[in-house]
Amino acid sequence: MSPDTARRRCAVVGLGARAQLFTEALTGPYADRIDLVGFVDVNAHRMAVHNDWIAAAHPGRPPVPAYGPDDFEEMLRRERVDLVVVCSVDRTHDDYIVRALDAGCDVVTEKPMTTDAERARRILDARRRSGREVRVAFNYRYNPVHAAVRETLAAGRIGEVGSVHFEWLLDVRHGADYFRRWHRDKANSGGLMVHKATHHFDLVNWWLGTRPETVYAHGGLFFYGDEAGRRRGLARDYTRAHGSPAAADDPFAVHLADSSVLRSLYLDAEAEDGYHRDRNVFGPGVSIEDDMAVLVRYATGATLTYHLTAYAPWEGYRIAFNGSEGRLELLVEESTWARPRPRTDGVSAVMHGAAAGDEAGRTELLLRRFWEEPRALTPATGEGGHGGGDVRMLADLFGDRDPAVPDALGRAADAADGARSLVTGLAANESFATGRPVRAGDLLEI
Ligand SMILES: NC(=O)c1ccc[n+]([C@@H]2O[C@H](COP(=O)([O-])OP(=O)(O)OC[C@H]3O[C@@H](n4cnc5c(N)ncnc54)[C@H](O)[C@@H]3O)[C@@H](O)[C@H]2O)c1
Repeated sequence: MSPDTARRRCAVVGLGARAQLFTEALTGPYADRIDLVGFVDVNAHRMAVHNDWIAAAHPGRPPVPAYGPDDFEEMLRRERVDLVVVCSVDRTHDDYIVRALDAGCDVVTEKPMTTDAERARRILDARRRSGREVRVAFNYRYNPVHAAVRETLAAGRIGEVGSVHFEWLLDVRHGADYFRRWHRDKANSGGLMVHKATHHFDLVNWWLGTRPETVYAHGGLFFYGDEAGRRRGLARDYTRAHGSPAAADDPFAVHLADSSVLRSLYLDAEAEDGYHRDRNVFGPGVSIEDDMAVLVRYATGATLTYHLTAYAPWEGYRIAFNGSEGRLELLVEESTWARPRPRTDGVSAVMHGAAAGDEAGRTELLLRRFWEEPRALTPATGEGGHGGGDVRMLADLFGDRDPAVPDALGRAADAADGARSLVTGLAANESFATGRPVRAGDLLEI
């Protein structure tokens, strides 16, 4: 938006934990240019909690009108909405994106843009026919360290990139969280190849300026789930942690009552929809993988070897780019270890990105050009969630960047970027099931 754009009227769909990033921004630093005028969720209690938080931060501000899913179009009309932020459960994104576009609104959607190829096609069609804008909230593009990688590669410091080696570790605290709640059902999240790796596949597409062509992958449930838990003696006898004596000393359990945020958003809201956010990671019903190996070939000819592990002792990632003039290596230790029962300060450490972990480790970006000593690059590190990515992304989404001035790093991600990242994960899921390589273009035209 340019600085002289008229005020916009925004609604937020899905008032869970992630929504707080947007509601705080829209009622705080961006309130002078955007009016937050509507909430939509299946759970009225969670919407009321967000209104309580807003009232506490901005005394006297009237509550944001709250609507149920069936009243979405009515809400758009009545509140004269022109921008919709979607941060509901992944499988519901497409429905709100398409309805918002068809009603003439622009959309900002949380990642993953959606969970399957059919839904992605609906979004791409609706975007075309409406002419409205879809932005995908790929906050990792805005992390200054990732920007430095893009700058270094674009400047040709390692020449042409031949291959990328990428390992992402989720620890037994935050990684386990995907096995406690709705993500554990592949129908809700597309599994971690879609829900989580969408960030990583998007980064590679963006860093290399390319798109995936062929994907081959193996994945399985190695650590979590009832069968593995029983076999290793890790399983305890409970369904959900709250009120279960067997969960009291389970290091894999989350205790909703320990954190005022988890208590108010989830525990106190359960009566309405039965959403239990603290299920046993070694209980039945887990249909997603926790250990995934993926091989991708890109349109440039570059290859990616990628591994996602959701049961690691520390959280972070290692990436190496092999180029025709050298190699670029990145190490990010988001947390060096996971405390069994993390200290809480309103929020909880299981809510990744909501608060800086107190076990954060180092970040190292190393340029190794042929015939030269290795050189440590020292990009700015960012404050706030996702390595400083969140606040920078908000400024780009809601701030006063003049569209006439191009973003030199090309960080703004649209629906095509959302689809290009999604298709790698979908192809990996198909490859898990068939044991065969999958052509991305056979799933979705990107
Ligand atoms: N970019 C990031 O780094 C990042 C971080 C966290 C979450 N997210 C994304 O944000 C979204 C929400 O995640 P979360 O952790 O806040 O989950 P959450 O479970 O805390 O919240 C989800 C909300 O969606 C609501 N909901 C469920 N079905 C709905 C429907 N049919 N209509 C409207 N609302 C519905 C739930 O009641 C809940 O309030 C997900 O898509 C997730 O991928 C992104």
